[in-house]
Amino acid sequence: MMSSSKCLFKIIICLFGLPAGFCNVQPTIMNPSILSPTKTLGECQACKLFVESFKKGLERTARGKYEGGDAAWEEEKLKTTYKRSEMRLVDIQEGICKDEKDHSIQCHNMAEKAEEYIEAWWAQNPDESSDLLTYICIDSLKTCCPKHHFGKDCIPCIGDHSNLCNGNGKCRGDGTRKGNGTCLCDPGYIGDNCDQCSTGYYLSYKDDNKITCSPCHRACMGGCRHGTPKDCFACKPGFLFDSEEGCLDINECDDVNRCTKDEFCMNSIGSFKCVSCDKSCSGCHGDGPDMCRKCANGYSKKGEFCIADREDEDSSDKLTMTRNTEL
Ligand SMILES: *[C@@H]1O[C@H](CO)[C@@H](O)[C@H](O)[C@H]1NC(C)=O
Repeated sequence: MMSSSKCLFKIIICLFGLPAGFCNVQPTIMNPSILSPTKTLGECQACKLFVESFKKGLERTARGKYEGGDAAWEEEKLKTTYKRSEMRLVDIQEGICKDEKDHSIQCHNMAEKAEEYIEAWWAQNPDESSDLLTYICIDSLKTCCPKHHFGKDCIPCIGDHSNLCNGNGKCRGDGTRKGNGTCLCDPGYIGDNCDQCSTGYYLSYKDDNKITCSPCHRACMGGCRHGTPKDCFACKPGFLFDSEEGCLDINECDDVNRCTKDEFCMNSIGSFKCVSCDKSCSGCHGDGPDMCRKCANGYSKKGEFCIADREDEDSSDKLTMTRNTEL
């Protein structure tokens, strides 16, 4: 950080129009160890972030610095002067990238690269609503491309730009200097133009310029005709084909020997698990001391429950009535 007196000095000098280099505001130097683990942005994204931040700066300083001035006419005059001053540019650049917590370093790097172009733009009394993104990111820094263009030379994406990748994907590198312009399809779609359904999906809608693929029922393996368990080409493990109902969940727990003596069986869709009985039980058909087939040694049946015979065991065991929270 510059000390405020030094900063003020610099601003005064800048107001008298010294060489541009002197008036450059250096990006804040960051400690690399506090670099967040957030994914780094692509160059184009970082440039867009910088431009957004700069636009916010324009808004932030749009109403001038001299609010509450003397006579209204004087205030008006100062505002007009400030509007195009180096001082305002300094004010904007001092706040630049400050709100971009996760990507502030990348934003600052971009701010540094963009500085000469920003200054040139500022010097020509610009229209503040002009397209800075195109000027900075596409034309000057060459980190982005226009919409539906990609790669080093901003070549048009392959195919019909009003319906790229059939609306089911995006052009690789769209709007950036990266990628090769081929389609990156959304989940469920394949093909050069994302016009086919991938395995595990079926065609649920089609007209002249659109297809929709929907996921098969979860009981299906290797594809399906429609979305119900009856439409599967084959059943997943844990499901059995039934001529009426299609692929049905197998209730593994129907097999009484599925689990050991001190466990009970829990069925789930496509699977099952064996869970230990409450310790008051010797065999059980569910969780808790009220689900015992027989009571374990040292426990006796009182009503629905198996209760410890001795007080000292009992005291801790009251808590086991709480249901196993995993279930
Ligand atoms: C385009 O890029 C993708 C992903 O990097 C790659 O898989 C594909 O083979 C490339 N296609 C062409 C035609 O270069």
